[in-house]
Amino acid sequence: MKHFRHDFPILEQSVNGHPLIYFDNAASSQKPNQVIEAIKAYYQKDHANVHRGIHELSNRATLAYESARERTAEFLHASSASDIIFTRGTTESINLVAHCLGQNSLGPGDKILITEMEHHSNMVPWQILASRTGATLEFIPVLEKDGSLDLSWLDNRLREDVKLLSCVHVSNSLGTINPVKELCQKARSKGILTLVDGAQSAGHMPIDVQEIDCDFYAFSGHKICGPTGIGVLYARKSIMDSWPPYQGGGEMIQEVTFERPSFKASPHRYEAGTPNMAGAVGLARAMDYIDAIGRQQIHDHDQALAQYFYDEIRRFPGVRVFGPPTNRGGLVSFLLDGLHVHDLVTLADQKGLALRGGHHCTQALMKKWGITGTARASFYFYNDKEEVDRSLEILDHLYKRFADRN
Ligand SMILES: Cc1ncc(COP(=O)(O)O)c(C=O)c1O
Repeated sequence: MKHFRHDFPILEQSVNGHPLIYFDNAASSQKPNQVIEAIKAYYQKDHANVHRGIHELSNRATLAYESARERTAEFLHASSASDIIFTRGTTESINLVAHCLGQNSLGPGDKILITEMEHHSNMVPWQILASRTGATLEFIPVLEKDGSLDLSWLDNRLREDVKLLSCVHVSNSLGTINPVKELCQKARSKGILTLVDGAQSAGHMPIDVQEIDCDFYAFSGHKICGPTGIGVLYARKSIMDSWPPYQGGGEMIQEVTFERPSFKASPHRYEAGTPNMAGAVGLARAMDYIDAIGRQQIHDHDQALAQYFYDEIRRFPGVRVFGPPTNRGGLVSFLLDGLHVHDLVTLADQKGLALRGGHHCTQALMKKWGITGTARASFYFYNDKEEVDRSLEILDHLYKRFADRN
């Protein structure tokens, strides 16, 4: 996949005097020229406000925006573009569902199920919702030995009082790939709504929301080679048409009188105000770009790099590696004995190696396991084995030189 690197000018630089090795893709991916050019062309030729105008540029902007919706439906294999709501990202997508669910039908005695490995984006909105409505939040436990979910815990918990099950597809801190199809099937058989946090899966593997059979699937543009500030909520229109709005303003109304407003159907009901048209254009171009490579190929490539890194880093004498031993997403979380995570990441940066260190927004799980954070290497299709070898050399050097083993 090395030839794709040339599309990413940002990767061609040196950092602190060394060639950049960018292994922070789980936090945000880099952007190919094709996406940057598509955004530039939109602003140079087609920009005006959408929907409301009856002039050429407005029509073009509307077409570009609505075509991006169609493209997103295709990307997720949704049955209709009306199931696609544009948001600012995964975080806003989940907040939208939490807000509307709370407005609609949640109260004391009701339960929301999530897992212990959720990103704060898929935990805090439910915690806020629970404190607002009196509903309770329950957590599917994570097994420390391999970072998998304790599914035996789940079976007698899926009862009528559970209103929604929300689960991350690929864990950003462990690399676990969760069996979301199985989880959604179990929940659906009890009439429970399901949400899948696809922040780490949408751009890394083929996604078919109809096959997963979830009610909601959320992801962010910036993690799939698209721009920041645009994200997606796949949401069944049949549900959203019966739910109240998330925010009020222009674009989402049918008619407004001094007495009351009436609202458009979904998805426009949930997109108040001028939307992020340039973001949608860039997102659609990013989808074209990564689908031309092939998401199965990307998955195989990322997984192979992660497995290689995992197998090699495990040879370090004082290492602790988190998550599954095989069949993981394209990232590895680890700790090196005697080397604080922040020191490790700072020293690695001095060699041009971009890792992430910290709790990765899964602070509660880290606390449960008695740690404050990990170092994380996360890969994408433009990374290669030579970079992994180089990163291991850097880590080996840092470990031997700086680890304090008193
Ligand atoms: C699993 C997961 N969920 C949610 C998010 C939040 O994404 P965003 O900050 O783009 O909304 C992230 C970001 O790292 C993530 O990894």
